[in-house]
Amino acid sequence: MANLPSSILVTGGAGFIGSALVRMLNETTDARVVTLDKLTYAGHRENLAGLAHPERHTFVHGDVCDRALCAAVLAEHRVEAVLHLAAESHVDRSIVGADAFVETNIVGTHRLVEAARAHFSALSAEGRARFRFVHVSTDEVYGSLAPNELPFTEKSPVRPNSPYAASKAAADHLVRAAHRTHGFPAILTNCSNNYGPRQMPEKLIPVVIERALARMSIPIYGDGLQVRDWIHVDDHCRALLRVLEAGRAGEVYNIGGDCERTNLALVRALCAALDHERPRADGAGYAAQIEHVADRPGHDRRYAISSAKLAHELGWRATTPFEQGLADTVRWYLANGAWLAAVSSAEHRAFMARQYGPHARSLT
Ligand code: NAD
Ligand code: TYD
Repeated sequence: MANLPSSILVTGGAGFIGSALVRMLNETTDARVVTLDKLTYAGHRENLAGLAHPERHTFVHGDVCDRALCAAVLAEHRVEAVLHLAAESHVDRSIVGADAFVETNIVGTHRLVEAARAHFSALSAEGRARFRFVHVSTDEVYGSLAPNELPFTEKSPVRPNSPYAASKAAADHLVRAAHRTHGFPAILTNCSNNYGPRQMPEKLIPVVIERALARMSIPIYGDGLQVRDWIHVDDHCRALLRVLEAGRAGEVYNIGGDCERTNLALVRALCAALDHERPRADGAGYAAQIEHVADRPGHDRRYAISSAKLAHELGWRATTPFEQGLADTVRWYLANGAWLAAVSSAEHRAFMARQYGPHARSLT
């Protein structure tokens, strides 16, 4: 990747996608990377353990809402590009309480952008020409699709339905406005549902794997016929690096896996992969543990997103075949029980008990 900046700030780099991105930058480029992460329940230093080139990585424990800290990090590390991933990211948590989502996703993005704008203004003409701020967002800002509707494009109306999606949409608007008003060289990306190693076991795929192995019920919200468009986290990260390298300032790029699955089909595929990798001692399939539970309030029925612009303009394509990526992910979780234990904080366990307690009984 010839055109990548040499000093990059990644916010949220101790989370699921952020840590995959920091790893990719560390292993496949020469860039110096500084991670700024608050280490909420979703952020873990373990996620960044074992980097191939630790001398090219700096970890800063801090909050994107702290503008002075953001300014200091940008200046001290002579940052040439920002990849902004720090966020509260779980829809179900945003339904229980949205304060942290407004604070981090909206106020935090605003403060970081303000600090980055000041930093950008002080750069040389050459530095300003090179500087990029990539704001990492979600397809959920576009709302829900009917079964016969075409996938979201960059021109789809923004119609967020959950507090999470609304907070991300608000942040997207602030970033876009910074470009339009101030000429700040920001690029927005909106990606579909990611899967892969190190995803917190509150999202569907790791919830299913963890609860299946623990012989607990596997909770499917409502009829399970909601559709998500799945993409491997490494394909998402490759798209982000391509956007950083060659994306045009002020543009939006949608990123998707072109892989629509109903939740029920996905969960059955996961159960089959587990049956293959670690069969239940009693010979029954893990699918026997599936239990339909009350639906999520405001549950979006279908997401699907077109990456045509990214493909045509920047030549990116998702390359991980879904079945292979899913099987690899299952194997990663089976081999990393210690990671699951390490990320299972009291805070996480309290949320899970609140979310699943009444209906997700242990089957053993
Ligand atoms: P995650 O919840 O796994 O990680 C979020 C990280 O942000 C954690 O390390 C956390 O400690 C950190 N963080 C939270 N608040 C912070 C703050 N105030 N200051 C600094 N750090 C803070 O999330 P993820 O799934 O890795 O998602 C990363 C980004 O990608 C988010 O912006 C999310 O909206 C976006 N995204 C996620 C998906 C997906 O499927 N997971 C899809 C599209 C877009
Ligand atoms: P999730 O992983 O939370 O991602 P998102 O809400 O951002 O799409 O959920 C993916 C889908 O799986 C979504 O339709 C909700 C559903 N789901 C369940 O059916 N059961 C669960 O326990 C969870 C966490 C999600």
